[in-house]
Amino acid sequence: MTDEEVVRLGKYPDLPHPGKRLPYGYKVSAENSRVIVAIPEVVLVLDVTLDMLDNGIPLREAADYLNTHSPKGYTLSHMGLKKVWTRNRKPVRRKIVVPKRTVKKLTDEERLERRRKLKIANDKRSIAAAQKRIARAEAEIGIIRENSLPDAPVFTVPAASELFAEIATPEGLDEDDIIFKPNPRQVVFLAAGELEVLYGGAAGGGKSYALLADAARYFGHSNFRGLLLRRTNDELKELIWESQKMYPALYPKAKWNQQDKQWTFPSGATLWMTYLEQEKDVLRYQGQSFVWIGFDELTQHPTPFAWNYLRSRLRTKDPELKPYLSMRAATNPGGPGHGWVKRMFIDPAPYGERFPATDLETDEIILVPDGDPDFPLDRWGTPLFYRRFIPAKLSDNPYLGYEYKGNLLSMPEQERRQLLDGDWNVADGAAFPEFRRSLHVVPRFEVPSTWRKFRSCDFGFSSRSASCVHWYAVDSNETVYVYRELYVKGLTARDLARKVLELEAGESISYGVLDSSCWHQKGHNGPSIAEEMIAAGTRWRPSDRTDGSRKAGMNRLHELLKIDPYTEKPAIQFTEDCRHIISTLEVIPVHPDGKDDIDDKYADDHSYDSLRYGIMTRPSGHTVFETFNKGVTKPRYRPTDSVFGY
Ligand SMILES: Nc1ncnc2c1ncn2[C@@H]1O[C@H](COP(=O)(O)OP(=O)(O)OP(=O)(O)O)[C@@H](O)[C@H]1O
Ligand SMILES: [Mg+2]
Repeated sequence: MTDEEVVRLGKYPDLPHPGKRLPYGYKVSAENSRVIVAIPEVVLVLDVTLDMLDNGIPLREAADYLNTHSPKGYTLSHMGLKKVWTRNRKPVRRKIVVPKRTVKKLTDEERLERRRKLKIANDKRSIAAAQKRIARAEAEIGIIRENSLPDAPVFTVPAASELFAEIATPEGLDEDDIIFKPNPRQVVFLAAGELEVLYGGAAGGGKSYALLADAARYFGHSNFRGLLLRRTNDELKELIWESQKMYPALYPKAKWNQQDKQWTFPSGATLWMTYLEQEKDVLRYQGQSFVWIGFDELTQHPTPFAWNYLRSRLRTKDPELKPYLSMRAATNPGGPGHGWVKRMFIDPAPYGERFPATDLETDEIILVPDGDPDFPLDRWGTPLFYRRFIPAKLSDNPYLGYEYKGNLLSMPEQERRQLLDGDWNVADGAAFPEFRRSLHVVPRFEVPSTWRKFRSCDFGFSSRSASCVHWYAVDSNETVYVYRELYVKGLTARDLARKVLELEAGESISYGVLDSSCWHQKGHNGPSIAEEMIAAGTRWRPSDRTDGSRKAGMNRLHELLKIDPYTEKPAIQFTEDCRHIISTLEVIPVHPDGKDDIDDKYADDHSYDSLRYGIMTRPSGHTVFETFNKGVTKPRYRPTDSVFGY
């Protein structure tokens, strides 16, 4: 690629997925479906064309150039090109209005006065510049002084992360002179060596404080760049106040810049404390790199997008800092992101244990790809990185009085369990609070061949999103058992259908129901997803997509989850193999506006949608008579319309 092409490509950086039509010349990134990337062959021609337009070449001529030089399949009409041009280059054709000059003849006195004022302004400016120079020189002397101190760490925590004990005050130190002394649980958090660590649980456990302290350990390194995030600017203020108490006490020469929201330490290390409200805010970090990234109140982020995106910003050229690259988060349970945070940090391993990072969609361990030249040979096929969850309890923090505990004790049960006990199994605003593992989940069992079976599927259209299939069996009491779940990512329609056939080999499946949009979502000009799946040998009928179908599906599920007072059983049960739908039903939040639907921000609802399609097919079991009479064709009354019965 020539230098010029590199410059041109630089104008088309990766962008977050706009959620609607992609800008011309962009495609969805193969690595992250929420990011779109430029197609070099297309945008290079586009950029030359836009230059032509900037230089006055007529629109049609420029469009001709674009269409003859672009790769096959990429064309633009001259009006389309005009739109792209205005969007990218914003040619401003403002009329320049030159105000008429009023020339006023000055008297000699006025001229002198003017000259005097000008001189004062110039003097002020040079004094300010001189003061800045002096301040800088002073700071430099400060750095020399501080750096010439013996290399004493701010505080040291024992390396063994199992250690869980009060840190003894070192001899010769007065307790009052200590600026920060971690409580035993904070010690575990500070000593954790995993790349991603979540410190989560009860309110007031000292989590946010520990985040501030965690970053503070590196402020002596000139190449340290830290980023500490909260969801909104207001929430951030609290954290800034705490930092303003702690950091100047640790580093008297630390400087806080209110404008940039950044701490600069005498070594040159920086910590940027900022907010990340919407997904598009991550663009502010494009092209930057950080050694340490901290999120306070992680569950305030409805999706894992920001967390995953920022992992890509974690890098350093400083070999001394490389082993310390870290993503740290603190949070209470509850909040819009409760579900994904629980799945990422809490479900995979017992509390406090280190575990290999898993893919949120498939639960599979993320491995270093075999043959990846960027990794040493012995890393191929091993876990890419590790995570750990450290639970926090209110009782960990001796700095909060009993009054605070009293406040928490008086809260409604759900919040109390989340904030006082740090209980992650209580979902915030759960859509299905009646769902209980003890009632609705049963061990795997051999499904009798006489039970009627069917399946449902929600297809993930983009290459990175998951598809989910459920299999159901209905017993003679009309109890529905969801007995199998398939949750896979990146399969084409045909491959998915093949997998379905493989799993249900030997079973007799009465029917399948599939997301009805699979009938209109087409490949380029080829058959629809549904046609592909049917052609591969699976049979499907379209799901209900009418206006009220989401609401009806939710109500139906509530109905099925109810416990029958006679049988003391619900009308739907899941075998323990259906892991996704079970963990989804435990935490999926209700729509914040109180609609009869789940929260639409809940990113991962494939398994819920599949279940909804399934239960809305009015499943019924075979009657005993049907079973006995199998194979005997007998004329029998069948209503043509199941609603009116005639
Ligand atoms: N090791 C410590 N030394 C001194 N004070 C501490 C320590 N840890 C926490 N604190 C104090 O306890 C208070 C509560 O801590 P912090 O705000 O970090 O808790 P939290 O777990 O983040 O609470 P929340 O769940 O409400 O966000 C803070 O005001 C902080 O000053
Ligand atoms: Mg906090």
